[in-house]
Amino acid sequence: MLHRPRRLRQSSALRDMVAETRLHSSDFIAPLFLMEGQNKKEEIASMPGYYRYSLDLLKAEVQEFWDMGCLSALLFVKVEDDLKDNEGTEALNLDGLMQRGIRMIKEAVPEMCLMTDVALDPYSEFGHDGIVENGEVINDASVGFLCEMAISHAQAGADFVAPSDMMDGRIEAMRIALDVAGFTGIGIMAYSAKYASCFYGPFRDALDSAPVDIVDIPKDKKTYQMNPANAIEGVKEAKMDIAEGADMVMIKPALSYLDVIRQIKDVSEVPVTAYHVSGEYAMIKAAAEKGWLNEEEAMLEVLTSIKRAGADLIATYFVKDIIRLINSK
Ligand code: PBG
Repeated sequence: MLHRPRRLRQSSALRDMVAETRLHSSDFIAPLFLMEGQNKKEEIASMPGYYRYSLDLLKAEVQEFWDMGCLSALLFVKVEDDLKDNEGTEALNLDGLMQRGIRMIKEAVPEMCLMTDVALDPYSEFGHDGIVENGEVINDASVGFLCEMAISHAQAGADFVAPSDMMDGRIEAMRIALDVAGFTGIGIMAYSAKYASCFYGPFRDALDSAPVDIVDIPKDKKTYQMNPANAIEGVKEAKMDIAEGADMVMIKPALSYLDVIRQIKDVSEVPVTAYHVSGEYAMIKAAAEKGWLNEEEAMLEVLTSIKRAGADLIATYFVKDIIRLINSK
């Protein structure tokens, strides 16, 4: 035999030397859930080991991420029920939870790259990412509102806005709106290929943001989020977003869409992010809790595979665990 591939696998040193994919603390984006109140840290039932924080406690939490070497956070808010309406009016409140959270984190760790979720669902009484009219999530009026939301986050001090709504044309509209408002330096991370996935379930528990079950209101997000059957369409969405001015594109969820990550990476001139979502985290946690999987090994294998598929950045609820693991080696 001229080739014995096993030669390169015979020691730990060799295996590490020839590893094609390496994880680094700078690869990760930490999603953070903000809530109202004082001294509050609530575990999310379907996401064991992950919490919602009131702003006073969030400060230390963000500092901890930063000190570990995590360079970026992605903010989500749990909005009080009585503040929700169809248009998501509260999203523009300059003193709203998101805006206060941005200001607080910017003050605590000014160098961290702070990203914010831009979509109506946490603010929508119907749990939709856009405005509902006559039983439909309407596109263009929603885009107009999302642009205002992005400007409000920029005013509060966000570095990047991350539109996760999947409305058509929102990246170009948002780019122009931000520029006209003077925020030429604020980046856009576009959720380009975002699938209508069951793996968002635990996240919707975390924010109480699931679509409501009311007559004449769409019960799912399938008219705007993508069909899991489609990959070429994901490439099209990413290309459109890049042409419209996105600084980064994202594929979400990650694990069931590794082929889409690879296909987009192959044609993308901008960094590619993948979101390892709440349900993907919950699956590993649940199996580990039952003793059916080794949590650490599963986490490492999954995150490595997402990077190998082509993700330059990964948003995941395992940020602390994975950085601890990388640093301990
Ligand atoms: C909402 C949004 C969702 C997630 C991020 N932004 C859920 C949804 O579209 O219903 C999911 C994140 C996760 O599951 O971890 N615009």
